[in-house]
Amino acid sequence: GASPPLQKSELKRLRKAELKEQKRLHAKEQRQQKKKAQKQRKQELRQEHLESMSAAERAEFLEKEREAGRERKAAIEATLDYSFHHGRPRIVINCSFSDTMDVRELTSLAKQVQLSYTQARDSNSKAQLHITSLHSQNPVIQSLEKQGMKSWKLHLHEESVWDVFATEAREGRLVVLTPDAEEELLEVLEEEVYVVGGIVDRSVKKMQSRSQAVDQGATKLRKLPLKRFGPSGCCPVLNIDCV
Ligand SMILES: C[S@@+](CC[C@H](N)C(=O)[O-])C[C@H]1O[C@@H](n2cnc3c(N)ncnc32)[C@H](O)[C@@H]1O
Repeated sequence: GASPPLQKSELKRLRKAELKEQKRLHAKEQRQQKKKAQKQRKQELRQEHLESMSAAERAEFLEKEREAGRERKAAIEATLDYSFHHGRPRIVINCSFSDTMDVRELTSLAKQVQLSYTQARDSNSKAQLHITSLHSQNPVIQSLEKQGMKSWKLHLHEESVWDVFATEAREGRLVVLTPDAEEELLEVLEEEVYVVGGIVDRSVKKMQSRSQAVDQGATKLRKLPLKRFGPSGCCPVLNIDCV
């Protein structure tokens, strides 16, 4: 039969959600346009600069530019290599929460993981990165692959963080970061392993990372000292790449 007519309040809610989505798309488009314009401007300036040179100057300039590019790339590769093999502390993104997320949240999660990787790479971080629970049934794998995971130099594990770092957990060196911890993280030690929950929750579901950690017998739960050291009014729950 025909579905019952929508309540006024329900209609209002739908309309509001639709407007919000339109606004989001509009803002995204504007961001993309701005970025494109900036890129174009940069190219034009470069072109003007090149045209102001003699042929010999131009050849020298381009060769120097290529050489600098090669050096930069080699330096980045060397740091990535070092961090992969010997980096400390170890930071884990625990991707075992995919079942609680929808496709959009999984896409955001993959983007945040990608940002975490590129930020670590571009800041010459010496931390060693791990992603856990990437077994074949985990739907986040597709989203991560779309973000380029196959070319990332980090440790991927099918097993859960609790299995991969069982020894560290036993020795009290596994630190689970969760906004719902009572104690604050006041120092970062090279020998400790820091676990970040691979969770994107648009409507924050409290306690997810905390509950799993407690169920798994984790004893070192810590929250970031945002109240004391963060900017005033800072949101108590951060995105993965900001942690
Ligand atoms: C968007 S938050 C997810 C919050 C979620 N409600 C939960 O239960 O963890 C993603 C992850 O970033 C880390 N995180 C975010 N804010 C944090 C904070 N204030 N202190 C410690 N860890 C935080 C946690 O590891 C968390 O699992």
